[in-house]
Amino acid sequence: MKYDFDQPLNRYHTDSVKWDGAASVFGSDDLLPMWVADMDFPVAAPILKALHQRIDHGVFGYTIAGAGVRQAVIDRMQNKYGWKVQPEWLVFTPGVVSGLSFAVKAYTKVGDHVVIQSPVYFPFMDVAVNNGCQIANSPLRLNGARYEMDFDSLQQAFEPQDGKTARSSLYILCSPHNPVGRVWSKDELMRAGRIAIDHGAIIIADEIHGELIFEGRQHVPFAGISEEFEQNSVVFIAPSKTFNLAGLAASVAIIANEKLRQQFQLAASGFMGGVNTLGLTALEAAFREGDEWLTQLLDYLHGNVRFTLDFLAQRIPEVKAVEPEGTYLMWLDCTGLGMDIRSLRDWMRHQVKLGLNDGYMFGPGGEGHQRLNIACPRALLREALGRLEQAVSCLR
Ligand SMILES: Cc1ncc(COP(=O)(O)O)c(C=O)c1O
Repeated sequence: MKYDFDQPLNRYHTDSVKWDGAASVFGSDDLLPMWVADMDFPVAAPILKALHQRIDHGVFGYTIAGAGVRQAVIDRMQNKYGWKVQPEWLVFTPGVVSGLSFAVKAYTKVGDHVVIQSPVYFPFMDVAVNNGCQIANSPLRLNGARYEMDFDSLQQAFEPQDGKTARSSLYILCSPHNPVGRVWSKDELMRAGRIAIDHGAIIIADEIHGELIFEGRQHVPFAGISEEFEQNSVVFIAPSKTFNLAGLAASVAIIANEKLRQQFQLAASGFMGGVNTLGLTALEAAFREGDEWLTQLLDYLHGNVRFTLDFLAQRIPEVKAVEPEGTYLMWLDCTGLGMDIRSLRDWMRHQVKLGLNDGYMFGPGGEGHQRLNIACPRALLREALGRLEQAVSCLR
């Protein structure tokens, strides 16, 4: 079946965070929202069909992640990466961020440090700080047109902080990386993992964007690298970003190490509810029957990436973007506009009339940047970039 990603889609009046929530967040009701990481495309036909069938049953009682759902996850990991996952390793969570929070709760003590690599998806900092931890940051380094890990500073981030008391017990790895769009190579993951394990830290690999990978790149699941990595990590996956199912809040923590699994379950017990019925239905359909749609989606998204890069280079050279290797998020370097954090934020909202994510929210290194979500019909992207061009031309 051929999907038409150019088809305009009106999401207003669906209580969409991105569209209906924009006015209150940005203080303006005539801006184009290109922020929250979901897509302005309907889901794959087999997912809709499975959901319709489930709804037609008419009963929505408590639901388990049954053998079919578990097998769909196991088969997905085997078929995509050759990673053999056992059914008992799977812990279903209603979203990745809540899972991250329980992981911090499970594997740290109050006062511990959690290692992150900024600029990074800002809830990583929230889940650490809100569980009583501190941040040990190893900022990414821009090398030419590509962000890289800084292994020297990563090493330092794991050394005891604050004298003898605080230790870095946890490393939250964003793989692929939101917002800079890197798909980490096996070599990079092995080096980072080695450093963390040598310092006795547990690695939490947030791989929610793991299937949004452009041609020529390959996602490597952290725990699939070796048995040692498997035993010292928790990998979070979900169909939510890949298949545009974020509102159904179904995700999976893959925890091979029995002790880590028990600690996670204990930390979550009494706090975390089960995954909702429709989320599980959608997850299974997506993993089993979503690939035809996904192949076409990735092709379309890659077209949007190229369109954006060309548009910026030719018409708005003051704003630069790194080319993402995966994800549908583009990291715009607006430092050439010479604005401070507040001016850039206000200008983007009130002059450009675009709702983007402010870069400074992603931690050190994010200042002067904006995150653009390109998962929308190209005409909308053209409109957004046109607004930016117009506003920049007024500054020249
Ligand atoms: C790296 C990363 N992790 C987690 C999430 C959100 O996950 P969830 O909605 O399942 O909590 C996002 C959403 O953008 C993300 O980019």
